[in-house]
Amino acid sequence: MAKMKRNKPALICCGVLVSVIVVLAIVFVALYFSVFRPRSPKVVATVVGTSVSAFNVFPPVLNLTVHVSVAVENPNYASFRYGDVVTVLRYHGDAVGQSVVPAGEIGARATETMGATVEVDTIRLALIPYFFPDAAVGVLPFETTTAVAGKATVLGTFKIGARSEVVCEVTVFGLMRNATSECTSTVHIGR
Ligand SMILES: *[C@@H]1O[C@H](CO)[C@@H](O)[C@H](O)[C@H]1NC(C)=O
Ligand SMILES: *[C@@H]1O[C@H](CO)[C@@H](O)[C@H](O)[C@H]1NC(C)=O
Repeated sequence: MAKMKRNKPALICCGVLVSVIVVLAIVFVALYFSVFRPRSPKVVATVVGTSVSAFNVFPPVLNLTVHVSVAVENPNYASFRYGDVVTVLRYHGDAVGQSVVPAGEIGARATETMGATVEVDTIRLALIPYFFPDAAVGVLPFETTTAVAGKATVLGTFKIGARSEVVCEVTVFGLMRNATSECTSTVHIGR
């Protein structure tokens, strides 16, 4: 009799504890696969403006400034930390300008827009053999590449790394001192 009185509450207590653990585990797994599922951030870049303040074939001069707007949308219920956002301006594959936006953090389910201004280095540009034939025609093909890499830590445990790259084709019309642009982005999920 004395034994049963001692064991029965212990058995009930143990059963309740196991049930609570099982329920918590189910809730946790369900939440993880719904609300807290890590999602890759969306990165969209657009060329918001280009200015050609000077253009000359000989001596070679091209004062070109490209303003790129980079919007990073973090769909996670956790903040997203990103490293330096580097925008490189290339001419026929060679880097002729660069802009760096310092590393930062975007809050849960928030969007941050960063602006990058890249100026062309005329001296470096003039050394590229394509400059003279392109400048003679008056059409110079440029490309900007903006890379954003970072990670979100969901529920303090699950990490998702993502790397996005946005490439914008910028075609400069030297004689008319204006330009056209078109951007395309790619996302790489993983660490
Ligand atoms: C073009 O850039 C050069 C070098 O940065 C500068 O000396 C010159 O004044 C600029 N010209 C114009 C019209 O902005
Ligand atoms: C560039 O300027 C010329 C002359 O002002 C204009 O006809 C042309 O449409 C402009 N192009 C762009 C892309 O703005």
